[in-house]
Amino acid sequence: MKIAVIGSGYVGTTTAAVLTSLHHHVTAADIDITKVKKLKQGILPFVEPGLDKFLISMLETGRLNFTADIYQAVKDNQVLLIAVGTPSRADGTADLRFLQSVADTIACSIHEYKVIVIKSTVPVGTNRWFSDYLGNKIGNPHMFDVISNPEFLREGNALQDMLHPDRTVIGGKSQKAIQIVKEIYESMQSNLLVTDWETAELIKYASNSFLATKISFINEIARIAEHAGADVVEIARGMGMDSRIGSEFLRAGIGFGGSCFPKDLKALIATAKELGADSKILEAVEYINRTQPNFYTEKLNRLLQKIAKRPWKIAILGLTFKPDTDDQRESPAIQVVNHLLEECEEIRIIDPTIQTRNQTPWPHEQKVTICRTTTESLSGADAVILCTDWEQFSNIDWKEAASHMRHPVLLDGRNMFDPDDIRSAGMRYLALGRGEFE
Ligand SMILES: NC(=O)c1ccc[n+]([C@@H]2O[C@H](COP(=O)([O-])OP(=O)(O)OC[C@H]3O[C@@H](n4cnc5c(N)ncnc54)[C@H](O)[C@@H]3O)[C@@H](O)[C@H]2O)c1
Repeated sequence: MKIAVIGSGYVGTTTAAVLTSLHHHVTAADIDITKVKKLKQGILPFVEPGLDKFLISMLETGRLNFTADIYQAVKDNQVLLIAVGTPSRADGTADLRFLQSVADTIACSIHEYKVIVIKSTVPVGTNRWFSDYLGNKIGNPHMFDVISNPEFLREGNALQDMLHPDRTVIGGKSQKAIQIVKEIYESMQSNLLVTDWETAELIKYASNSFLATKISFINEIARIAEHAGADVVEIARGMGMDSRIGSEFLRAGIGFGGSCFPKDLKALIATAKELGADSKILEAVEYINRTQPNFYTEKLNRLLQKIAKRPWKIAILGLTFKPDTDDQRESPAIQVVNHLLEECEEIRIIDPTIQTRNQTPWPHEQKVTICRTTTESLSGADAVILCTDWEQFSNIDWKEAASHMRHPVLLDGRNMFDPDDIRSAGMRYLALGRGEFE
């Protein structure tokens, strides 16, 4: 099949490469010319394990193309799969201007029947709105059909998730379009769920919000465990042994971030409000997550006030919202740094994916140093905070680390380490919900 993927970010690029591997002819289009130039050369503009090599091999088939000419991509392909961003507005609602701009482009280029597949995460009602908006613009609602096909991949595992999805959700009204989309994914082993637009849209939001709920739930249990002198890591282990609960997404830490969970949770709360429905659980999940980074840093503040003179020097291990990605969007590590900057003389950050210091604008930029090695980041520090559990941090020699620090204090924002190992290396160890309330 001839497919145009509109938007070549994390989702669009992965989708384009995977659809090529399913023997389709794919044109991936993006308005960002620099991105398109890189992708044409097989250079990924973001970090995603395994996707770089896969992309090159798919380019070599000759069936995958990248272009900045969206009009031509629309004209040349029967299926238009949209994967543009749907970021949060200040009030939490989803900003659909990129989607609207794609609709405007399609309206100017459409001359024959198209199946438009919305892969972007969009609030309930958006597929219906898109269909009405485009139909009104071109004055012919029969020139196209719209299908909701939400994407569930995780950054850091995007390629495998897309090659082996747990499920494929197809939402729409037109049986003809549903059949075409089924054929696109025909050779994939996946549970297929065909439903209507609204249900498909809500499956995506409900799934992300449920996973976010598990994280905030265990974070709340960690706060209780801390007062009770219990160990949340063991609690999560015990809970996870129950197959009805499952062990995933039960790791207490500084909270979830990234471009999906926080945004989708806020958008679902906003949708519930618009519809006049209750969203008490979702609001609590959002509240716990919003307060979680500061809950942790306050713990460190209380200790440092007793043992170290201000202004402090703090080392930060990891800035991305999780390992194996370079995505810093809504990373709780950013909130940790911003919360501490005022009190600090210097914050020294190390993250395997930091290229420049401009990715995140800091309010007191002169206080932020990007380091190349862990030792450099720890040198003279009053404390170190593990914000992202990158594999490479698990190999730190803490005895050696302690010798470089002014005060050997580790705040483990991901409960990554064994408290006994760290303490026996001469470090003061702070975690969340692991039996010690500072
Ligand atoms: N990143 C994830 O892990 C993930 C997972 C599942 C679903 N999603 C959803 O998928 C969507 C895309 O997410 P992403 O992380 O790939 O976003 P992204 O920001 O990485 O990529 C979006 C791309 O769309 C391009 N774009 C914007 N307007 C355009 C237009 N008019 N025409 C062509 N290209 C245009 C941008 O230049 C950008 O390259 C979002 O709705 C997101 O919520 C993301």
